[in-house]
Amino acid sequence: MTPLKALGGTSDILPEEALRWQKLETTARRVLNLYGYREIRTPLIEEAAVFTSSLGEAAEIVTKQMYLFQDRGGRQVVLRPEGTASVVRAFIEHGMDKTGGLTRFYYLGPMFRAERPQAGRKRQFHQLGVEVFGSSSPYQDVEVIALLMQLLENFGIEKNVMLMLNNLGCPDDRPTIQKELRASFLPHVPDLCQDCKQRLEVNPLRILDCKNPKCRSIAQEKITMKAWERWLCKSCNEHFGKVITALKKINIEPNLSPDLVRGLDYYTRTAFEVIYPGLGAQNAIGGGGRYDNLVELLGGAATPAIGFALGLERVLMAQEADGLTANDKMVSPLVFVATVSSAQIPNGLELVEALRAQGIAASANLEDRPLKRQLEQAAKANSSGTVLILGEDEVKQNVVMVKNLATGQQTKEPLGTIVEKLKGEILRPSASG
Ligand code: HAM
Repeated sequence: MTPLKALGGTSDILPEEALRWQKLETTARRVLNLYGYREIRTPLIEEAAVFTSSLGEAAEIVTKQMYLFQDRGGRQVVLRPEGTASVVRAFIEHGMDKTGGLTRFYYLGPMFRAERPQAGRKRQFHQLGVEVFGSSSPYQDVEVIALLMQLLENFGIEKNVMLMLNNLGCPDDRPTIQKELRASFLPHVPDLCQDCKQRLEVNPLRILDCKNPKCRSIAQEKITMKAWERWLCKSCNEHFGKVITALKKINIEPNLSPDLVRGLDYYTRTAFEVIYPGLGAQNAIGGGGRYDNLVELLGGAATPAIGFALGLERVLMAQEADGLTANDKMVSPLVFVATVSSAQIPNGLELVEALRAQGIAASANLEDRPLKRQLEQAAKANSSGTVLILGEDEVKQNVVMVKNLATGQQTKEPLGTIVEKLKGEILRPSASG
């Protein structure tokens, strides 16, 4: 049989790399707790309607990228392509839309999109997302963006990122926006790509999202912040003004981006992205915005909401680009328990379990093999260089030989007190796990 491989666009995270993930996750949880967010874990599979009803029928994620299949019961199910719709579904299902007040969630986990894999674009990738329900205040937008920037700072990558910001207006503004966009692009139809020609009919907003250089340059030339200001209602313009002023007050300088529309249809008003320009084509580290109508659209009580998601693979890539990976070293078990013959293996097991019970990372020989080979292996793997040797005599005398691999020094210690002694000498934050 030819060796099996992971599917294209998915990858194994091997232990050395998993350390970096753990560090990222621990940092993220600490910061999220400071801001009062609580974790929510939703299923990786959902009924297709959760996404088809919320992300927009013309959104690429729905038309081209969903892992959609029929399960054994004949239901249409989807491997979640993003977290927001699932969290909204859970928010409504558990009656949280009826309780009022502010609800803050965060989630961490894999998402699935059938995109053409390339650097920074995977079919299974991981997001850290947050969603806040129950506030329509512009200052809530500012706090969410501040959290995003705080996370990036704690990940050590704040220096080279740019915050892009736009206001997409409320549903009442949408017909005007679409009409004005259509009018702006109509004279340029021959220059638009095939997809955008269709978008012009179905949803002109999506043209702003097109990656085709020609479509991009037309969009950048025609669509300005001034144009948005004209298309949006007074209340949306005021909201945006307050967001910008308050961001500056807390020293966050947004780049106003009239062509930022995000790839999902649920956004209203504030929309944002953080870009790490050094990452090449896939340079969006994260993005989000308000979605004040989604809860109602999915059958809940009208509840304003806002959130964002960071792509963790891209955060790790940005850390690499900033040279922040040097300290990620595996910590090996600190103590190795060797046995002279296989008869002492059960005693070795008893000792290694006692060490671990006291928080000392340790491993033991479990094979019938010569002591010399065990010591060679210990020297290779054992970072502290402490080996405990049990032979027939040691077991009889209730002692253990303690060998320091670095100096070659050997001492005999009573078996009854060795664990306590080592604990005092070498215990540091446990590396076992
Ligand atoms: P999104 O912009 O589709 O937003 O994804 C957020 C981030 O996930 C992107 O900026 C990117 O870093 C990462 N990402 C997306 N697709 C891939 C991929 N194929 N491979 C690697 N990374 C990827 C959302 O998903 C919204 N749910 C965010 C949100 C939360 N809005 C409101 N609340």
